[in-house]
Amino acid sequence: MEKEIDGVIYNVPCHVAVILDGNGRWAKKRHLPRNFGHKEGAKAVEQCCEDAWNLGIKCLTVYAFSTENWKRSVEEVTGIMNLLRNYLLNAIQRANKNNMRVRVIGERSKLAADIIEAIERLEDATKGNTGLQFTIALNYGGRDEIRRAMIKLAEKVKAGELEPSAITEDMISNNLDTWELPDPDLLIRTSGEMRSSNYLPWQIAYSEFYFTDTLWPDFKREDMIEAIRHYSMRDRRYGGVK
Ligand code: FPP
Repeated sequence: MEKEIDGVIYNVPCHVAVILDGNGRWAKKRHLPRNFGHKEGAKAVEQCCEDAWNLGIKCLTVYAFSTENWKRSVEEVTGIMNLLRNYLLNAIQRANKNNMRVRVIGERSKLAADIIEAIERLEDATKGNTGLQFTIALNYGGRDEIRRAMIKLAEKVKAGELEPSAITEDMISNNLDTWELPDPDLLIRTSGEMRSSNYLPWQIAYSEFYFTDTLWPDFKREDMIEAIRHYSMRDRRYGGVK
């Protein structure tokens, strides 16, 4: 969508997915424990939701905790889970104030019962909101998401409701956790790493990638505009010729 930002016309991506990286290094640079970095990272996520919507982005999906992140120290995992608890505490009020709808993707059954309950309440309380469609990937792994979608389709085949050869790409998309969202137009990864780390592997097939050295807690409105500027210059051909 074309939008004027600070006097310049940009082609703003509808759906931006972000791999929040560099919280640990942000803290280390300041001789602080890693969980301080995550705390600043969570604040940056909240600000990013407001900035994204004001810049014309309709959907924002952030990678908060991967299926692999359980391998971190108990202290760090507990710290991140407590940050989420804290976020979820005020999230309904804040989301409703901003007309923001919040969804959580990932394998939630492995999360603590109080977190699952808070997520369900948040999703339900914001389901009518038409502003930013904000999605948090939590205990999310892209291959695991595809595996769970395959199970659902296999159940239909087993029940005789679906011919294996009739399975379409849309059916697969519609059985992923992101079934209600369009595919991301732009994937951003902060902190200089250039991997996709099992994040939305099916959905980013045609996404543009933007990598920045900025550590996630330092990622501000200007950084999002810079990402949009790069996106605006890209020529998306989806495998065809223009
Ligand atoms: C990556 O940085 C960050 C994480 C694995 C956790 C991110 C989680 C949050 C910011 C909390 C999310 C909160 C909300 C409100 C959704 P890293 O630790 O891998 O950084 P490093 O590579 O510098 O060590």
